[in-house]
Amino acid sequence: MGSNKKVLITGASMGIGRALAKKFLENGFFVIGTGRNSMIENFNDDNFYPLKLDISNSNSVKEAKNKIFKIFKSIDILINNAGIGPDLDTLFPDKESFTKTFEVNTIGTVFFTEFFIPLINNNGMILNISSKMGSIDFCKLTDSVAYRMSKSALNMYTKILANRLYNNIKVASIHPGWVQTTIAKSNINGRLTPEKSAENIFRFIQSDFQNGIFWNSENDTELSW
Ligand SMILES: NC(=O)c1ccc[n+]([C@@H]2O[C@H](COP(=O)([O-])OP(=O)(O)OC[C@H]3O[C@@H](n4cnc5c(N)ncnc54)[C@H](OP(=O)(O)O)[C@@H]3O)[C@@H](O)[C@H]2O)c1
Repeated sequence: MGSNKKVLITGASMGIGRALAKKFLENGFFVIGTGRNSMIENFNDDNFYPLKLDISNSNSVKEAKNKIFKIFKSIDILINNAGIGPDLDTLFPDKESFTKTFEVNTIGTVFFTEFFIPLINNNGMILNISSKMGSIDFCKLTDSVAYRMSKSALNMYTKILANRLYNNIKVASIHPGWVQTTIAKSNINGRLTPEKSAENIFRFIQSDFQNGIFWNSENDTELSW
């Protein structure tokens, strides 16, 4: 993939998404980065386009799609990174945080993706930033019910899309590692900086990865669903 390619990254205002946007810019891509506030600070780059998006709001999703179609016509890579974890580190499901989590991580991400699929060029990609916490095989704990379930459901969407789009778009779920972001209090202890995590994800995207895979980019291994 070269310099004229366009990558759309949701949740580019901070954390892993922001580091990913920087990584793609450094490597000559054109980056469309979303945030709920359209002003994404400190990106003074001609190859960066800030897009206002609340993925849990269907009007915002429609507006974002129409804008990108009008201005750019198409994209090459969609990185579904926007995600929340209000029940991370808590033990029992709570209806409010459960609903919010699914509205962003699952429902919002699915319908945002459905809107953008027609804009993705042949030989394009969709990367879902999932989590090892969404792996059913791997789960030995009982915490973070909504977060885990939202990512398991997202993983199923990865498989479904991989089956649907295999002729011209590659799809994968990625676990980005345990990263020092503000998604949960405990992430202050994360093993990776957002920059290191972005570097690993970028390397995976540049590789000839298998369509429909669930990948742990922290240690470069396939994850079981
Ligand atoms: N950090 C980790 O250790 C870790 C591990 C596994 C998986 N992940 C996954 O990696 C992804 C990024 O996480 P992170 O740790 O970088 O989190 P973060 O620092 O909290 O960033 C989350 C991003 O999502 C955006 N976002 C939140 N709600 C949104 C909404 N309603 N509409 C659109 N965008 C929204 C935020 O943008 P605004 O608030 O500006 O809108 C922000 O840019 C998430 O999907 C997360 O589940 C993280």
